[in-house]
Order: sequence, then C-alpha cells, then structure tokens
Amino acid sequence: MYSSGFLKMDDASFEKLSSFITRQYGIKLPAAKKSMLESRLNKKVLSLGFDSYQPFLAYIFGKEGRVKELPNVVDLITTNKTDFFREPGHFEYLTQNFLPGYKTNNRHRPLKVWSAACSTGEEPYTILMVLEEFRKANLPFCYSITASDISTRTLQAAYQGIYSYDRISMLPDHLKRSYFLKSKDPANSCVRIKPEYRKKISYKRVNLVYDLDMPVSMSFDLIFCRNVLIYFDKSTQEKVINRLARYLRPGGLLFLGHSESTLGMTVPFKQVSPTIYRNTYE
Ligand SMILES: C[S@@+](CC[C@H](N)C(=O)[O-])C[C@H]1O[C@@H](n2cnc3c(N)ncnc32)[C@H](O)[C@@H]1O
Repeated sequence: MYSSGFLKMDDASFEKLSSFITRQYGIKLPAAKKSMLESRLNKKVLSLGFDSYQPFLAYIFGKEGRVKELPNVVDLITTNKTDFFREPGHFEYLTQNFLPGYKTNNRHRPLKVWSAACSTGEEPYTILMVLEEFRKANLPFCYSITASDISTRTLQAAYQGIYSYDRISMLPDHLKRSYFLKSKDPANSCVRIKPEYRKKISYKRVNLVYDLDMPVSMSFDLIFCRNVLIYFDKSTQEKVINRLARYLRPGGLLFLGHSESTLGMTVPFKQVSPTIYRNTYE
C-alpha cells in the first residue's frame, strides 16, 4: 500500500477536508489553497501507508485517527510564522503608554496577559521580556502570562523555549544575556529561555473559534490576538473578537496583527492606536 512521490488530492477529498477545517477551526481554505494542502500533507499521507486521500481522510476522521493523527494534521495545516518583537510598535506602546499608567494605578493587582495564538512562543516570551525590563527599570509588579494556540506542536515548542541562534541574533545583547542560555556544546548553536522565565508562562490548547470556555474570572488586562484572524472569514473574526471582549477587563487592550482590524464590525472596542483597541464592554 505504501508508495512514494506526489499524491494529487481529488476534488471530493479537498471539499471534505477544507469544509471540516473551516467549520472546526475557522481557517478558510478556498480552492486556490489545494496545492498548499497537498504539499503540506503529502509526506504525512504516505508515511501512514495510504496511496490516496480518500482512505487517509476516512482514517483521520475515524475513531483512532481522530485521536492519533488529526492534531498532527492541524499542525501541518496551520501557518505558524512568528518572530521575537514582531510588530515592535505594540511593545513600544506597552512600555511608553500602557505600563506607566498601570504601574501607578494597579500596583497591587497582578497584570494578566493572554497571547491567544502564541505559535512557537516568540510572542509570549517577547511580552515577558518587555514586562521584566519595565519591572527592572521601575517599581516591581506581579504579572501572569497565559499562552494558547490550536497547534499542539507549536505549544510544545513554546514550552521548550529552544530557538536557533539566528532567531534571536537581532536582539540587543542585554536581552540575550538576561533571558537566554547558550548550549554548553559549542557545536550546538541553539539557545534556550532561562528556566525561571519559562515557568512564568502557562500554556493551554485553545481553539479561538470554539473553546473559549475559560472561567470569566480569568479577565485579562491585555490580549494579543495577532496574525490569526486573517485566516478566518469576516463573520468568524467578528464572533471571535466579541468573545475576546468578555475575557478583557473593561478598559483592557486588544492587540491585533498589522493587517487585521475591527473595521465594519459591531464589536465593543475603541481604537487607541493602529491595531490596538480598548475594550468598552461593561
Ligand atoms: C501566523 S501565527 C501568529 C503567531 C503570533 N501571534 C504572531 O503574530 O507572531 C498564527 C497562529 O494561529 C494559530 N491558529 C490558527 N487557527 C487557530 C484557532 N482556530 N484557534 C487558535 N489558534 C489558531 C496557528 O496555529 C498559528 O500558530
């Protein structure tokens, strides 16, 4: 049954898989994405011993495959591109506009932050560095960071906190020294987030389209939901943003990605800066 080479996806299989992914995870997969799906799934289909997509889909939607392989398929389908200090204006806004006021008014209450599509961890660790640096330069305050994603592979990578050196080469030396450990093996060019910082972030698998079942007491001061809504259609984006509003304290801030906005949506947010929104939900 095992064959090598490239498998073409038949139209019925594409329709079945793409409608499932859109329904379940919000991710749009128009016909133009078929070749992208084929190239991402080809190796997986062959490695499981299938020579076409129909038996592969029957397997991943069946009792055993749903548990064993569907999460891996989701890992392959999601796009996980990210960077440390991606869209740096957001972090400048935190340091210059948000944290000075927060520190004065709320020093005795921990600041709660959620990185809601955290991918491999660069975003929550960037938030951590910004908060730690602000704490060092000013009065200390407590904070907690929750990081979530739909992809289990990226969550594991984030939890491990291991990155190739080129991922951090552009960071200033003082950040590299303060937050990263080098390998003792000179042949290994990877760095790892220091354990005292790794353990400050808690991870959860959250599907933004369905699983917003965290207790409302987890009301956050800041939610970063960046570069994920672009994969959803407009009405799913609007639903997700409205649900996120319930997890933000009144006045809390929502950060979206550079090509995302609430334009044309009925959502309880007021824009305070490009792609930064204040929650007006009471
Ligand atoms: C391009 S990355 C963005 C990472 C980071 N927020 C950034 O801006 O650099 C998009 C992430 O959204 C996640 N994702 C896609 N659909 C999701 C869903 N329905 N619920 C939660 N996360 C999802 C993907 O797994 C991926 O890691």
